[in-house]
Amino acid sequence: MMPLITKDKIAKSKSYSTIDIFEKAAREAGQALINDFGTIENSQVKLKDVGDFVTTADIKTEKILLEILQQSYPNATYITEESEKIKGDEEIIVIDPIDGTTNFIHGIPFVGIVIGRVFEGEITDGIIFNPILNELYSATKGGGAWCNKKRLHVSNRNKMSNCIIGTSVPHANRGYKNYLNEIDSIAKNCAGLRSTGSAAIDLSFVASGKTDAFWQRNLKLWDICSGILIVNEAGGKVTQPNGKDWTVNSSDILASNLFVHQQIVEKL
Ligand code: IPD
Ligand code: CA
Ligand code: CA
Repeated sequence: MMPLITKDKIAKSKSYSTIDIFEKAAREAGQALINDFGTIENSQVKLKDVGDFVTTADIKTEKILLEILQQSYPNATYITEESEKIKGDEEIIVIDPIDGTTNFIHGIPFVGIVIGRVFEGEITDGIIFNPILNELYSATKGGGAWCNKKRLHVSNRNKMSNCIIGTSVPHANRGYKNYLNEIDSIAKNCAGLRSTGSAAIDLSFVASGKTDAFWQRNLKLWDICSGILIVNEAGGKVTQPNGKDWTVNSSDILASNLFVHQQIVEKL
């Protein structure tokens, strides 16, 4: 008897090949990053704004990613950090060539190449590749979350007081009115705060159960699109910090292991 191929399976096999293409692009671009890592003289740092750096490595990485991805997705729309939007069809590829540029400049190995696919307002596929640690976080909607070949699961802590929670302390002109109150309120009610300097890596920490939650405001879609899918596929939950649904137009997020989500919403 012929094996039954469901629509779901066809969709999955298509999506898995999306991840393969993203991985190929990220590994090739990542090779150049490994060579430049921690060598500030190779990086030619420019300041976009106070405390907001761009290096030649960001530009070079994005160029390599675009060249490879456009071979497979010539008609897609591209939303990337370092270039103008490339207008195409309704399939959207989102790219952050280096999430954690300041870490990269300082030789701190928390960096990620982020590539995500958004279709009809939904994140369908995403990767975060850390070339320095050779860790490839990936997820396809409905296909689980992975780091290299290992399946990821969020933590199972259900009391906020036992949790380690990620955030980023706003610097330069990124502060917002209530941020010290938020940090104060969360810090008083948890087991510790952590900040990696890369929102993508912060989200991969939640997905792999290293931290139990992460919240941050004023993020861009390229910082978080892959991480959000990876957290969801690892069994976690992502909303806005006030508990409302997260959409691709939201710049504030709360991601958690699900169990402590509401406890954190109440403290923010
Ligand atoms: C930054 C990182 C950082 C977050 C900033 C982002 P970049 O991205 O994700 O963790 O706090 O808001 O801009 O500049 O390194 O790509
Ligand atoms: Ca970023
Ligand atoms: Ca970046």
